[in-house]
Order: sequence, then C-alpha cells, then structure tokens
Amino acid sequence: MSPKKEHEVSRMSEYIDQLLCSDSTDTLHHVVDVGSGQGYLSRALQNLGFHVLALDSNEIQTSGAERWKAKEAARMQKQFKRGKDAQSLPDSQHHCNDPLFQSHVATSVPSASIASKNIIHSRTGSLTHQTICINPRTLESSIHDWLLSGEDNQIAGCTNMIGDLLVDRTERRTPEEKPVPVMMVALHACGSLTPDVLRVFLSNYRRPSAPGIRIWTAQALVVVGCCYNLMASEDFPLSRSLRERVPVATLPLSSRHLAAQIPSQWLRNETSARETSLAIRKVVFRALLQPVLEKFGALEASANHAATSSSYNVEELRGVGQTPENRRLGKLPDAAYKDWETFLDRATSKTGVRLDQIATQLPVYIHDKRRRMQLESALSVLHVLRCIMGPLIESLILLDRHEWVREELSRSSETQESSPMDVELVNLFDQATGSGRNVAIVIKPCEWPNMI
Ligand SMILES: C[S@@+](CC[C@H](N)C(=O)[O-])C[C@H]1O[C@@H](n2cnc3c(N)ncnc32)[C@H](O)[C@@H]1O
Repeated sequence: MSPKKEHEVSRMSEYIDQLLCSDSTDTLHHVVDVGSGQGYLSRALQNLGFHVLALDSNEIQTSGAERWKAKEAARMQKQFKRGKDAQSLPDSQHHCNDPLFQSHVATSVPSASIASKNIIHSRTGSLTHQTICINPRTLESSIHDWLLSGEDNQIAGCTNMIGDLLVDRTERRTPEEKPVPVMMVALHACGSLTPDVLRVFLSNYRRPSAPGIRIWTAQALVVVGCCYNLMASEDFPLSRSLRERVPVATLPLSSRHLAAQIPSQWLRNETSARETSLAIRKVVFRALLQPVLEKFGALEASANHAATSSSYNVEELRGVGQTPENRRLGKLPDAAYKDWETFLDRATSKTGVRLDQIATQLPVYIHDKRRRMQLESALSVLHVLRCIMGPLIESLILLDRHEWVREELSRSSETQESSPMDVELVNLFDQATGSGRNVAIVIKPCEWPNMI
C-alpha cells in the first residue's frame, strides 16, 4: 500500500470506528464499502470487527482484493497458531475510548477480551467481495441479498450475520421486527458513484420502517468522492437552492477537470514543484501547437488514412477542454516535454504534420524563441489562474451535495418516524500526503455527538 493510501485508510477507518463508538446501542456492525478497489479500507474495517460487503465493478480489482484477503487471513491464522495473545492482534479488536460504550459492551459481550484500556471487546468481522456495477438499484439489492444470504458470509468462527446481529446482540429480535442497521462507506467513489450512494441512503431513509418492509436501514454514511469530471451532468446541481437560482449554475466538463487541482500543495517539496512545472509546461506546449494542428493536422491525418478531425465529434467536445487535434495527439511521455524542440519533433511525427513543408505558413512563434517565450509566459499565467479556481469548484460541488442531503433529510423527517439525521462535511485527510480529495460527506443520527 502506498503511504498515501495508508494514510487514507488509517484515517478513514479510525474515523468510522470512533463514529460508531457514539452508537450506544452497539447494533451497527454491517458496513458496505462501495467502489472498494483492492479492498484496503474493507480489510481495515473487517479487522476492526465489522461485517463488510465490498463492491466494485472491476473484476481485476475484486480478484486482487480477494488475493489480499486470503493473504491476510493466512497471516492472521499463523499468528493465532503461534499463540500470540490479544495484545499482538490489535487488528481484530474493536477500539473505543467512550466509557459509556465500554461499559455497555463489556456486559453485553461475555467473551470480551481486554487487551488494553482502549480495547473493550473482540468480535470477528467478515468480508464479502462482489463484482458489480453499482447504480441506485443494484446497490440497494446487493445489500439486501448480502444480508439475506448470511450463511454465505460466514467465516471460521463467525456466526450467521443476521443471526449474529439480531439474535445475539439485540435481544433476540427477528428480521420482521427490526431492520439491520448498515453503514455505507466509500473511499474515492468516482464521478456519479458518490451521488448514487447518497441517493440510496436517502431513499432507504425515506422508506417506512414498518415491520417487514425493509430488511436493512441506512444508519450512517461516510463517503469521499473523486473524479468530478466523470460525474453525469444531472449530478450538478443537486440542491434545490442551486437549482432554483437564475441562471442555474452549471459546470462544464473543463471546469470539473480543474476541481482536481490542489494549488496549495504545488510547492510543498521539490518533487511536487517539479511535477507542477511539468504539468503546466504540458498544457502550454500543447496550446501553442494547437493552431498548427488545427490548420494542417486534418490534412496530414487524412493523407495518412489516420483518424481525421471529423471522426471526433466537434460538438461533443465543446466546453470539455478538449479538441479533435489534441485527442489525436493523445498522450506523450514526460520526456517529450523536455523542451520546445523535443516536443515539436515528437508531436509532429506522431500526428504526421510536416513542418518543413508548411514553413512559410507557420505562426512566427513556432521558430522564434523570443516570441514563443512571451506567449509561454502568458499561457502559463492563464493556466495557473484557471487552476486556482479548482478548490473553489470542488467546494461548490461539495456544498451542493451537502445542501441537497440536508434538504432531503429535513423533508423526510417531516413525514416519517426514523430518528433525525445530521449531515456534515469532514476534512478527513491531510492533503500534504498527496490525498487531494480529502473531504468526506458524513451522515449520522443527530443523537451521535459531532466529531472533529
Ligand atoms: C478511485 S478507485 C478507489 C478504490 C478504493 N476505494 C481505494 O480507495 O483504494 C474507485 C473504484 O470504484 C470503482 N467503481 C467506479 N464506478 C463504479 C461503479 N459504478 N460500481 C462499482 N464500482 C465502481 C472502480 O472500479 C475503482 O476500483
């Protein structure tokens, strides 16, 4: 695991663990990790004693996560065989400092194993991976099926999940009487995945809680989004406050790309400064070549029977910060941006444009260093100014999501009897570790205390 991922997983699992310490009923043991990737967060939560359903649409990710899970299980078993005591196995303990929680668990779990003053009981978690493309419908049914197929989720020494929860832990209630409380989590749920998880939470929350109507209840949520450029256009704006504004706020794809920028971290160390300077140079060099590719690229491409400008729908690319020429130029290795001459050479040979044959028609700056440097400087400043807007755009997206959830929760609480919920934005990761998307949307019962 990279140091960045380690930071994210440790911060997020600690936060979730602490958050659940506020649940004095100790009934929330089921967590769904949406877009679980290699399962780093899922395993951390399993190791804290939760039953985890890890969902990802990518089979390669899921099978990689399964391999990690098997390795980890073997390691734990080996440690267990060696007779290591509970102190050396902090992973499988549920930690909590809350005295109220401690006394509650200590009496309700007879097998509590006291390992340190912070560790109050052990329970064995489980982890189920599933490859599935998540949308609101599939997420709802995956959770439903997972909870109903309790026996499939058994692992050595672990009782049936629903049985575990409803019989052992909540005074012998049956599924008809009490839905299973579930927490939904996602670490860097890209594009529309974040709004979709929020939709499922809200629709579950709105549903009547009469016996037998739902098998699970959305009890809490911690979701960090990413890749706003992959978001469907209907996912912004979501809140009534923004939708009802005139004119309605919109974010073209080119601006959603900018939301990934973290200018505050550009100069945090030498490597970062070098990478930033290269990233700016890439944009500027490509912009300088653009008029040439626009004018002569299509001709050359069609002469070479390669893709022509017209094979890219110009309309489709409008406002997305892309052009047919740039698409055709595609990705070049970092080395191609070493200096202007190298770039010119690599870019023209890739696109088939012969500069020597159009020398008299080229803009002066192509070969005039002084003129080019002036333009380079102006374009660099322009791009930096655009990037500075990035955090503002991300804040707007996050605030819109926050406001939308708040509106929906307050609308629902007027009509139904579920306990009222809070929504907040929590700064979870330190951006200096490289974790750019660091803000979590957290939904939790109002009665749980706010956490810093
Ligand atoms: C940025 S990665 C994060 C992975 C993991 N949570 C982590 O932090 O290491 C996003 C993951 O979401 C998955 N994903 C994206 N859209 C999805 C969808 N609609 N349904 C299920 N998984 C999805 C991708 O396959 C990818 O593994």
